[in-house]
Amino acid sequence: MRAELRYDFYEMKPFETGFGSFKRPRRTGQVVTVGRVRDVPEGRGATVELLDGSELALYNVAGKFYAIENFCPHRGAPLADGQLCGPTVMCDWHGWRFDLRTGACLNNAGAVETYTVIIEDGMIKIKI
Ligand code: FES
Repeated sequence: MRAELRYDFYEMKPFETGFGSFKRPRRTGQVVTVGRVRDVPEGRGATVELLDGSELALYNVAGKFYAIENFCPHRGAPLADGQLCGPTVMCDWHGWRFDLRTGACLNNAGAVETYTVIIEDGMIKIKI
């Protein structure tokens, strides 16, 4: 019961708090090879660190891959460590949920950035 009240409190917070954006990849249009398909099992997330130090969260949802910015806009938790439920991820820290297809936050108005994932020859590529 107490946990539910705390969860409700966080749902009421405004969406953009300034966390996470400093490590959001800058849009360049570049396609970057980040790893092999077999290294990200179904139902799992992985952190992708790019050469400039920015990060993405990559997920394998029933064989379909999604990428979003890695840090939760609420308080900066790494979303790659969140809990997957279908094409949504729930932040481990306070339970905000994000649709991996659109980036939309399901608790508040707003969204995280999404990135196109391309699978070619068993390799995972992300358009930054
Ligand atoms: S850091 Fe609070 S919900 Fe993600």
